[in-house]
Amino acid sequence: MELRILAVGDVVGLPGLSYLSRHLRSLKQLYKIDFCVVNGENANGVGILPRQADLIFDAGADVITLGNHTFGRREICPYLDDNRYILRPANLAPSLPGHGWGVFETNAGPVAVANLVGRCAMDFTPDNPFRVVDKILKELEGLPVLLDFHAEATSEKLAMAYYLDGKISAQWGTHTHVQTADEQILPNGTGYLTDLGMTGPVRSVIGIRPEQSIANFRGELTSRYAPAPGPCALHGALFTVDMSTGRCTHVERVNVLD
Ligand code: FE2
Repeated sequence: MELRILAVGDVVGLPGLSYLSRHLRSLKQLYKIDFCVVNGENANGVGILPRQADLIFDAGADVITLGNHTFGRREICPYLDDNRYILRPANLAPSLPGHGWGVFETNAGPVAVANLVGRCAMDFTPDNPFRVVDKILKELEGLPVLLDFHAEATSEKLAMAYYLDGKISAQWGTHTHVQTADEQILPNGTGYLTDLGMTGPVRSVIGIRPEQSIANFRGELTSRYAPAPGPCALHGALFTVDMSTGRCTHVERVNVLD
């Protein structure tokens, strides 16, 4: 039995949310998707509100993962405790609300999803993800595991993937919002893509109006970040997992552009 998983890159702002709502159902049909994981930590630009999480589930996500901006909008805190289908990075302080991993039913059997955040170029100090993942995998022994590693550095993402090769079914990266072209199956059967990309405005600097980003880098005073106008795209990846072995048998980048 195989499981076809669609992982969707960071949904950015209202443009990203409405693009996701418009395209995800038909995309899932087209690729015969059994299970869909969407990164939602930028649904409100920085963070996510409960109604935006509801919109992502309504659009067709089975699980929402988050990242360094999980608590950008504190209104999400009770939602994170109450809804086990939304995950925040497991390597944040244990006292914070929410769950870092979960086990979910699919037509092909149970699958585990974990969310971790990297430490390179992150403006806070999460626990070491390489050590936290050991503990998570001990709890999930025998289950196929999917990991959204929300991280800036390619090296950190690749090192994690080689560390987990043969121990998990697939790892994808989020956070940089630019899709990488290195989809692959590692030697021991873990499917991998360094970064999924994003779901949001095409003519933008990782989703934001270029003028705002330029002003920021020039050291000028900037207004609150706003998503760029214009056409959007959805970036992600399809992973096929053989549920009898837990190995990834196929990985393919997915791009939708009007
Ligand atoms: Fe992020």
